[in-house]
Amino acid sequence: MSSPTYGPGVPEGSVRIFDTTLRDGEQAPGAGLTVAEKIQVARQLARLKVDVIEAGFPAASPGDFEAVRRIAEETRGSAVAALARCKDGDPQRAVEAIGVAERPHLHVFIATSDIHLKHKLRIDRDQALAEAVRWVRYGREKLGRDAEVEFSAEDASRTDPDFLLQVYAAVLEAGASTLNIPDTVGYAIPSEFGSLVSRVTALAGDEAVVSVHCHNDLGLATANTLAAVQAGARQVEVTVNGLGERAGNASLEEVVMALRTRPTQFPTLVSRVATEQITPASRLVSHLTGFSIQPNKAVVGANAFAHESGIHQDGVIKNPLTYEIMTPQSVGLTGSQLTIGKLSGRKGLQKKLRDLGYHVEGPELDLVYREAIALADRKKDVTDADLIAIVEQQVAEVPETVGLVDWEVSSAKGGESRGHVTLTLAGSERHGSSRGNGPVDALYGAVDAAIEPVLAWHPVLMSYEIRAVSGGEDAQGQVVVRCRRSIDDASYADSVTGHGLSTNIVEASLGAYLVATNKLHAMELGDTTSVIPAPRPDEELP
Ligand code: KIV
Ligand code: ZN
Repeated sequence: MSSPTYGPGVPEGSVRIFDTTLRDGEQAPGAGLTVAEKIQVARQLARLKVDVIEAGFPAASPGDFEAVRRIAEETRGSAVAALARCKDGDPQRAVEAIGVAERPHLHVFIATSDIHLKHKLRIDRDQALAEAVRWVRYGREKLGRDAEVEFSAEDASRTDPDFLLQVYAAVLEAGASTLNIPDTVGYAIPSEFGSLVSRVTALAGDEAVVSVHCHNDLGLATANTLAAVQAGARQVEVTVNGLGERAGNASLEEVVMALRTRPTQFPTLVSRVATEQITPASRLVSHLTGFSIQPNKAVVGANAFAHESGIHQDGVIKNPLTYEIMTPQSVGLTGSQLTIGKLSGRKGLQKKLRDLGYHVEGPELDLVYREAIALADRKKDVTDADLIAIVEQQVAEVPETVGLVDWEVSSAKGGESRGHVTLTLAGSERHGSSRGNGPVDALYGAVDAAIEPVLAWHPVLMSYEIRAVSGGEDAQGQVVVRCRRSIDDASYADSVTGHGLSTNIVEASLGAYLVATNKLHAMELGDTTSVIPAPRPDEELP
């Protein structure tokens, strides 16, 4: 293991956690978020105390620019990064978006491997090097000496190592304060990646932080990231739930908990992440993207702390250390003694939610309270899972321009279903009817029939998922849909999720479709303000 190197902005003994859920994570097909949803995630990342939030790629779209700008404006404590290609226009847009940040962090990149240079960029090595130097210098001049300017050599692990070091030396000279080594296609093996990191670490000395960015194509992203830390990297680029392009990125929860659980392997190294915020962060990202977490996912999967076999259960009862290398509490999985029933008060509910890792207050608490009490009227036990589902349902709600007044559906064995809805839209009631191959299909057709004459489009269903929130006959059903507008192309770009929650699964399905419809409509109107207000300091509750 080589001795640790610290660069500017990395206090001795710490590993900087750079979260790219909102940039690389969001690039996963079908994981797109609205501006409001990105702001919700950024707030949770700030609670998690990641060092850097990579908020997006401002040149990619006006929505991404707006999301980065608004996250930069409100975030305190974590630096806010924006990605830019080494290409005229991109870095200017990124600087404009993060200029207001308390701690701006510009991240410029260009591919350096011959395969990318020849087939993608169609430039030679000298041109790539010149562009890298040009845009790192630009960032340093624009943002001043104290800001972070990070340079990434895309596809570094497949780049000729001598050329790679030449590029890093040149950008260091031009003012880069972080040298990032991306394993863009998840090609590296831990021992070989560690050796590459050692070479870059030796070059950087105390002048720059060495960072790594590992993809998971061979399932090695976490292993490569940890090997890099042992070789001297002091920034790791990760995503919540390992979300990201293709097989995803190194997962934040795995890397952070490995550093914490195996201190002898990472002597004197810590991250400042508030690990008890990991579970709420994981649930939020899963909920908003609609990407469910596999039950056996390390750290955040539903079975990560479940013990089924008698031998294991017996051991854990006698001493949890027999089969648990970290406590559920340390990642925010807390059981609480408080139960919620019809007579519970707001304060009791707020305390319970806090125990579950959710900080809910003001009007949002009122909404959750009303829903929880209404559920307690219909359902014998309101479980933790029910409460979490209710909170998630309220997150980043959109203004309701299409409202539900009534619905009706008939369905019988072997026959067609017929659905009818009454909606409010543009100040008047609208009716729609449709036949379908099932009750949900018939109601979705009825919504389309009601809104299309006014909006000139209808939602197109891209995916539909239904889950039971808790066990029992009276369990709530949670439906997650992803939709796009019928007038847009069939890609995931500009698609949105919609969530519905009800003990009646047909109603949950209709609710999800209408939430997606409202989000699409808000996006069409250019509304990026549909987000609950930023959290205020705790107030005394009535
Ligand atoms: O995977 C990659 O190479 C990237 C860079 C832009 C850092 O995401
Ligand atoms: Zn990447």
